[in-house]
Amino acid sequence: MGDVADEMKQKQEEQPIPLLTPYQMGRFLLSHRIVLAPLTMTSSPRNIPGPEAILQYSEKTTKGALLISEATGVSETAQGFPSMPGIWTKEQIEAWKPIVKAVHNKGGVFFCQIWHCGRVSNYNLQPNGQSPVSSTEKTISSTDSPEYSPPRSLKTEEIPHIVNDFKLAAINAIKAGFDGVEIHGAHGFLIDQFLKDHVNDRTDKYGGSLENRCRFALEIVDAISNAIGPDRVGIRLSPFANYFESGDSHPLELGLYMAEALNKYGLAYCHMVEPRMKTFSEKVECDYSLLPIRKAFEGTFIAAGGYDREEGNRVVSENRVNLVAYGRLFLANPDLPKRFELNDPSYLIFDFKKLAGRNFHHRLHSISLHASKPPCGPHQTPPPLVPLLEPRSIDPTTKMAKEPKVPEKICNMEEPIAVPTKPIAPALVLPSVAVPPIAPALPPIVPTNDAMMINAEIESREAKKWCG
Ligand SMILES: Cc1cc2nc3c(=O)[nH]c(=O)nc-3n(C[C@H](O)[C@H](O)[C@H](O)COP(=O)(O)O)c2cc1C
Repeated sequence: MGDVADEMKQKQEEQPIPLLTPYQMGRFLLSHRIVLAPLTMTSSPRNIPGPEAILQYSEKTTKGALLISEATGVSETAQGFPSMPGIWTKEQIEAWKPIVKAVHNKGGVFFCQIWHCGRVSNYNLQPNGQSPVSSTEKTISSTDSPEYSPPRSLKTEEIPHIVNDFKLAAINAIKAGFDGVEIHGAHGFLIDQFLKDHVNDRTDKYGGSLENRCRFALEIVDAISNAIGPDRVGIRLSPFANYFESGDSHPLELGLYMAEALNKYGLAYCHMVEPRMKTFSEKVECDYSLLPIRKAFEGTFIAAGGYDREEGNRVVSENRVNLVAYGRLFLANPDLPKRFELNDPSYLIFDFKKLAGRNFHHRLHSISLHASKPPCGPHQTPPPLVPLLEPRSIDPTTKMAKEPKVPEKICNMEEPIAVPTKPIAPALVLPSVAVPPIAPALPPIVPTNDAMMINAEIESREAKKWCG
């Protein structure tokens, strides 16, 4: 019996973990496929990222990892929430530099997510108290979000100026040291307000047909690709989502149209939000799949939304995605790749039920973390956890979990999984991003304490911010 168990354990240790296999994303050689999803922190007074972001990002960095920054405004009119960082002034560029440097020092590849909130804003956040701009004059009507002011529909001749703001922001991001930018075309913000027919009621060349509604997004892609090179540009889209009343009647067609239109640019990646994500936190049953869009897109494909370790491994091994972006799990576990490597079942998940129907950006202080909660959506049975390592035992004196014995080679980085991949253009491998084994030593993991500490930290910071 013992022999069989040992043999199984050895087999598991020898098998590479799909999420922990290297991946060549255009010019960037990534050592694993666990991406930090963009996560707004609302901790940038006067739209200038603060030094605490150095820790926020560097603690989530592993060598050769891809990280995407929180959404970062492209201009004064882009802001939709207080204390969002921006990247349209010199001061902002300078403030980003040490943050980017900290990520680079640990070998991470860092993309800056750039956005414009459009109508998801209010007079108080706009220069001179003016109306937020959008593709429409329709106000977001949700009763729980009274703070959205009636938007002004952009005139046709104003649109090139917004495209230019995106371009300048991308150039600024490169000046700040970022490796590239992710254009935020998802979640009901300005680009999405153009893409979706529930919002876009224009009659000019930016409204009506699918081609016209996608024009604004593609002009931004074009301008930025020309300015900084397409291999430094990614885009995030959520064709199936309906955040801030930005639904579309034919989301699959929209996603396919965009995927095909993007093919001609040779972008670093296309990042799609899973159709099952009805809101940031709500995972629902859904008939749609990203697969047709993934097949239509010819470059690196990232998916996000409700993934756990098991599902992430499965979609990578089935070549349904190249990379998986994790949001809330990363918030709760800055060392997520390590925890996935150890198959530590104690990784944590936010309880977002408390946030249902509320504007989460303004309520982060009410988030609580729950230890040892198996990660799964409301419609799934928790998958059985197959421990790669011996189960943790508790030290009777310290009451702490004993550090597990880490096998010398958990993940064989030299042997990527055998998935069919497209031929890659000759890679300009960044010298600092060699394929590494993941950093060996972990501090002892004590789920409950971890949870309490992270929770306390978030609560005190957010409470200070929102409650004075
Ligand atoms: C606190 C918080 C902040 C977020 N901020 C952003 C953001 O700035 N930009 C963005 O595109 N998505 C943002 N999202 C969405 C996440 O990137 C991700 O898509 C979502 O959390 C679902 O993935 P998950 O199930 O792995 O958490 C945010 C989500 C959370 C929970």
